[in-house]
Amino acid sequence: MQQYIHSVQAWLERVKPYVDAETVERLNVELERGDVVRIHEQVTNIYEQIQRKRVPIGGHTLPQLPYAYNALEPYIAEEIMRLHHEKHHQSYVDGLNRAEKMMQQAREKNDYALLKHWEREAAFHGSGHYLHTIFWNNMKPRGGGRPTGALLQQIVRDFGSFEAFQRHFTEAAKQVEGSGWALLVWSPFAERLDILQAEKHQNGTQWTTVPLLVLDVWEHAYYLQYKNDRATYVQQWWNVVNWDDVQQRFIKAKGRVM
Ligand SMILES: [Fe+2]
Repeated sequence: MQQYIHSVQAWLERVKPYVDAETVERLNVELERGDVVRIHEQVTNIYEQIQRKRVPIGGHTLPQLPYAYNALEPYIAEEIMRLHHEKHHQSYVDGLNRAEKMMQQAREKNDYALLKHWEREAAFHGSGHYLHTIFWNNMKPRGGGRPTGALLQQIVRDFGSFEAFQRHFTEAAKQVEGSGWALLVWSPFAERLDILQAEKHQNGTQWTTVPLLVLDVWEHAYYLQYKNDRATYVQQWWNVVNWDDVQQRFIKAKGRVM
């Protein structure tokens, strides 16, 4: 029970910058009175509303850690956490903001000469920002153990057992070539969990975003008809886009809260 209260307190701490002081005070008092489940629900609602707020172009901010810098000791040292969050994560936020603003400028001026550079920057810093945001919340003091409920059921279903999942994930993390991540992901297409490795963390993507409209520009997609003229293929492709499908994907994606 005490652990549950701590985790709700941590959530409350996380939403603090976004709600007025009176509300925080009230929730804290009620939490101390023992209304843990109800407060948990309320805090989750507030958090979901915050998550749904649109981030303006170039307006990403460094999220607060949901615990103190030394809270994960002895497993992760305070110095690492401080540098990792204040320096590394901040530089991803700054880099993403800059790339987004530069691409906005490119659209306004219709000048795409440096687009490849800024797309790469947005992918690199964007993935860094989004993955670290998940990473901080994926950890907590006095964590560990194993999941319960629906997640455990799904893990057992998809990997055979929690132990098998943990061995696979551990190996995936150990074997990432160079810098990168190990990720437990949900595949909406296959309706199951999977484990992936990400080398560096971008390769042109921003993890956590949802694809709505995709265009295959591998040569096999156009060579027989357009030879090496990719530009014409891309131009002509707009004539076959199914916007109803994109619309459906958009509506489904917007219903998700990360
Ligand atoms: Fe990192």
